[in-house]
Amino acid sequence: MIRSIFLGSGSALPARLVSNAELANTVDTSDDWIRERTGITQRYFAGEGETTATLATAAAARALDNAGLTIADIDLIVLATATPDLTFPATATMVQKALGGAGFPAFDVAAVCSGFLYALGTSDAMIRSGMATKALVIGAETFSRLLDWEDRTTCVLFGDGAGAFVIGASDGSDNDQGILATQLHADGAHCELLYVDGGPSTTGTVGHLRMKGREVFRHAVTNLAQVLGDVLAKAGHTAGEVDWVVPHQANLRILDATARKLGLPMDKVVVTVDRHANTSAASVPLAFDTAWRDGRIKRGQLVILEAMGGGFTWGASLLRV
Ligand code: ACO
Repeated sequence: MIRSIFLGSGSALPARLVSNAELANTVDTSDDWIRERTGITQRYFAGEGETTATLATAAAARALDNAGLTIADIDLIVLATATPDLTFPATATMVQKALGGAGFPAFDVAAVCSGFLYALGTSDAMIRSGMATKALVIGAETFSRLLDWEDRTTCVLFGDGAGAFVIGASDGSDNDQGILATQLHADGAHCELLYVDGGPSTTGTVGHLRMKGREVFRHAVTNLAQVLGDVLAKAGHTAGEVDWVVPHQANLRILDATARKLGLPMDKVVVTVDRHANTSAASVPLAFDTAWRDGRIKRGQLVILEAMGGGFTWGASLLRV
């Protein structure tokens, strides 16, 4: 059976680092409040010349380098974002061009913070069906461009960045390597709890992020615990066998509550929300790449990726690295 094998990862952050203290100069908030409620101490914001596409291209180039491949080896790009450079064409096509590729399919998926899980699941399905052999799977965002700086309940929570995986078809000889199972969900019933109040077909504007944080928190812990259990069962593994959890980095308290529900200690959870804040679709590959490059995540380990975001959408993927 052909599986999608993890071949390498990369990430990129904007040049400008913004501490809580700096944010508190212009927003009615404090370093203490942000740290206590979220675990965030800083984030990165894209500056002039930095866009979702430029960050995605940098992350993708590093992932290719990490995999020992070039764009000539790639035959699919799937990019998850809620903050594309333009309404169209897809940001994935801009990355394809910037990397010097052409001809093969490149498209975006929109599932907000779960976007990377959706992109990975889609790429994996295309590889297993023979439609592609090596894919660049990217999560990239510039949420700073969607934030309402007058709304302190949301603008302190998010940051910009990008992360990328290269995955490729296995030769079919090892059934316990690569992406072992993926589970994706969506439920539009709670759209009003987390959304952007603009768009080309309604207001003709980009809009601002709106969130009822407390309600989102409650749904996130329930949905994530459930999908993690489901994906483990689907692959025939147990939580105790997992080496690393790489969660969507929304809030340290959500990571803590979800790990507790699974009975996993926090030292098995990769945490980058303190440094990156919530980078939406970029957060899972950014966190993964951090732990991959600093040597925590190693070849052969069992890693579970999970995310929940606007829609609601949520999902998890179990991977033998
Ligand atoms: N600085 C200072 N005070 C603030 C701030 C701020 N930035 N924001 C809110 N407050 C105040 C509120 O006004 C309120 O004051 P009041 O009691 O006088 O009315 C008080 O702090 C408490 O506000 P709550 O919203 O109840 O605070 P809560 O403890 O729920 O924390 C938070 C808010 C951090 C947003 C939390 O609900 C949360 O993390 N929710 C999950 C949101 C999330 O992670 N979403 C992302 C998941 S999906 C995705 O990633 C897109």
